[in-house]
Amino acid sequence: MDEIRPNRPQLYENLDPEPRLLMGPGPVDVHPRILRALSMPMLGQFDPQFTGYMNQVMDLLRQVFRTENHWAFLVNGTARSGTEALLTSLICPGDRVLVPIFGRFGHLLKEISERVGAQVVPLHAEWGTVFTASAIEEAIIEHRPKVVALVHGDTSTTMVQPLDEIGPICRKHGAIAYVDATATLGGMAVEVDGWQLDAVSSGLQKCMSGPPGTAPITFNDRVAEVINSRKHIEEGIQPEGFVPGSGPRIQSNYFDVAMLMDYWSPKRLNHHTESTSMLYAAHECARIVLEEGLETRFERHRLASRALRAGLEAMGLKLFGDPAHRMDNVTGVHIPEGVDGDKARGDILADFGIEIGTSFGPLQGRIWRIGTMGYVCRKSSILTCLSALEAVLRQHGYRATPGAGVDAAYVVYREAER
Ligand SMILES: Cc1ncc(COP(=O)(O)O)c(C=O)c1O
Repeated sequence: MDEIRPNRPQLYENLDPEPRLLMGPGPVDVHPRILRALSMPMLGQFDPQFTGYMNQVMDLLRQVFRTENHWAFLVNGTARSGTEALLTSLICPGDRVLVPIFGRFGHLLKEISERVGAQVVPLHAEWGTVFTASAIEEAIIEHRPKVVALVHGDTSTTMVQPLDEIGPICRKHGAIAYVDATATLGGMAVEVDGWQLDAVSSGLQKCMSGPPGTAPITFNDRVAEVINSRKHIEEGIQPEGFVPGSGPRIQSNYFDVAMLMDYWSPKRLNHHTESTSMLYAAHECARIVLEEGLETRFERHRLASRALRAGLEAMGLKLFGDPAHRMDNVTGVHIPEGVDGDKARGDILADFGIEIGTSFGPLQGRIWRIGTMGYVCRKSSILTCLSALEAVLRQHGYRATPGAGVDAAYVVYREAER
């Protein structure tokens, strides 16, 4: 039977999203200044004002990434587009890539590397733990990878991999260090130069307090050289006399970082149409982060996590993962026995308008993830979330001492204010 279609096209209702407090592992609430930046008028992509903004974004991103790298720009797409652009442009079919995996996003790096034909050597750490530098060094010595690709803070497990020794180890053994700093940039230290990281990518929708949709990346000259050795320019825009690089052509056009470098340089060789509004957003995100100051910002995240964790523990809940390696901007907490995790999470959303996260893979149904990222990382959010959680847990038969969570968080804030 033919599908019954309405006579007139459906227009649905006006978009009118309900107010929420987004305390999952990202996206989080967008800073109002960034929402305003998103509504600025379009500019043409070669308008000198717009190319001026592109240069400013490069400069602002260098400061956020703490790098002297020339190359710091945006890949249009969610955070994984930055990962995909860097890995696809770096990895030639058959290249060996070492991927230390301690959560879902390590698996993503493996998957992206495999899709471009890498010979991937995965290393596994139990979810809730991270790697020692020596375990990674031993694997590098054994497998001699071209690239070591790893995640900084893996939101799926809420663990953060220390990187200060990993960059120098990669450098010592001639491997390129790629890091996914999606969940940490703007909330925890990401020392691109200090840790000798060769290529790093991120997103806006976590500690940068922006919307998902564009990915800041940075890489050094060493990486630029490797990528440029594969440079092939689309025929329709090829300058006369262009000689392609000797390496194999990068498999993706959209994620071709060699062509992106030409677009983000005075050549302004047209690749895609830069996502105007997302560039405005990235510009404002970076300005807000730098205005607050990176160290002040990191301290704000550390304090919020300490207060949240004190509150959760005072409610008798058990925190997840190795305490020495917890991220400062998202906390994993075991779902108490007898409580239906998804149902309780649904009630927190429906009754209090607060979103907290579930988890994946081996942690599905075992932990919730509570984010304290960027704009949401405020005392009021922490106290509101703890009160809501206590109330909903009571409805689900779990009884914490009334007020214990909020009181414990207050103590942490009060001590910090002294
Ligand atoms: C560590 C990490 N990497 C990558 C991603 C993927 O980001 P996106 O969904 O923006 O592509 C996420 C998202 O949660 C993440 O936490």
